[in-house]
Parts: sequence; structure tokens; C-alpha cells
Amino acid sequence: MLGRVALGLFVLGSAVLQQPPKKPVEATTFAPIGFFNKNCYYCHPKDGAGYPADFGKGYDEEKLYDRLLDMTEEKARVALTDKELDVLASWMRALMKKEPHVAWVETKGAELTFEATIGATVTATVKGSAVAVRQDKGLWKLMRPAGSVAGDVVVTATLQRKSTKLALKSAASSHTKRLGSR
Ligand code: HEC
Repeated sequence: MLGRVALGLFVLGSAVLQQPPKKPVEATTFAPIGFFNKNCYYCHPKDGAGYPADFGKGYDEEKLYDRLLDMTEEKARVALTDKELDVLASWMRALMKKEPHVAWVETKGAELTFEATIGATVTATVKGSAVAVRQDKGLWKLMRPAGSVAGDVVVTATLQRKSTKLALKSAASSHTKRLGSR
């Protein structure tokens, strides 16, 4: 009896081990607000400030991506990769929810760079302990302590008492949850 249970656990254990390891999350290398202010500004006010108060009403994922493809390719005449479009869409979802957005946009050695909604304040923890985050040319930077990995970092963007948390072990951008999903 005990032997059979042990064998069962062994088989189960090796099946789990055989699954390919999940690839760690990487920086987006794309800053959506910076992109918007460079490519969309001549028709839209900076920082996405010009959208109607009910922006998001009647939107689902299909409409969001349709609008963004039309705006990028036809209006602004820039081609984005699928990954870049996803990051831009995540910022749009934050605008719809009127929540601060934050994205991990770059890595240089132990230095991680973030873009957050204009006016938000960014704080961070590594393995649960607070680390210093400094503002630099509109972006936010922190040094990951020795012995930690990017996946240990959790950043929080706060604006007018609304906070958005981003754990780098699961995503490089906040608001990745598709519209209409729970
Ligand atoms: C040539 C002018 C022009 C440029 C450039 C432009 N847009 Fe637009 N955009 C518009 C106009 C006009 C509307 C409103 C009418 C409509 O929805 O088509 C609009 C609407 C939108 C909407 C929908 C807003 C709503 O209320 O639902 C989004 C999202 C959007 N633009 C994103 C972008 C992004 C992102 C860029 C840059 C890549 C961009 N736009 C560049 C003219 C422009």
C-alpha cells in the first residue's frame, strides 16, 4: 500500500519536473507614455489627458486593439510589434480605469527602469524590503540588491490614493488583464 503511494508520488513528481521551466519575465523595452507623447501628441493631448471621461465605455479587447492598430498604423504611421502593442493596450486599460499605470521598461545590469503614469509616485520592495527608487528624466530607477533577481522586485505606483502593484515575477507591465475578464 505504502509502496504504491510512493510510486504514485514518484510518477507525479517526474511529470511535474519534465515540464519546461517558465521563462522569466523580461523588461518591455517599450515605454507606452513616452511613445504616445512622441507619436500621438499632434492629435491627442500629452500623457493621454485628452480622452473623454467615459473612455472605455463600450470597449472590449477587440475594439481596443482595432482602435490602436488604426491609430498606430493609419494615423501615426508607426508599426509596433505585437508585444509593444500589448504594452500600449495595458496603459489604455489603466486610463479607462483611471488607475496609475506602471511598466518595467529597461534593465542595465542591476539597474531597473520603470515608466509610470505622470504625477504618480513609485515605490518598490525587493524580497519584501523597501529599496530606494529615484526619478530620472521622467522615469524611475532602482538598483536591485546583490543576491536578488528581477523577479524579487515588486513596484507600486500611487496617484491620488490609487495604487497599482506590479510583481515582476509575473508581468513587466500592470493592467495586463483583458477587458471583461475577472
Ligand atoms: C492624425 C491625428 C491622430 C493621430 C496621429 C492619432 N490619433 Fe488617436 N484619434 C484621433 C481622432 C480624431 C480620434 C477620435 C475619433 C475616433 O475615435 O476615430 C482618435 C481616437 C483615439 C482613441 C479612442 C478614444 C475614445 O474615446 O475611444 C484612441 C485609444 C486613440 N485615438 C489612440 C491613439 C494613439 C495610441 C495614437 C498614437 C499611436 C493616436 N491615437 C494617434 C486622431 C489621431
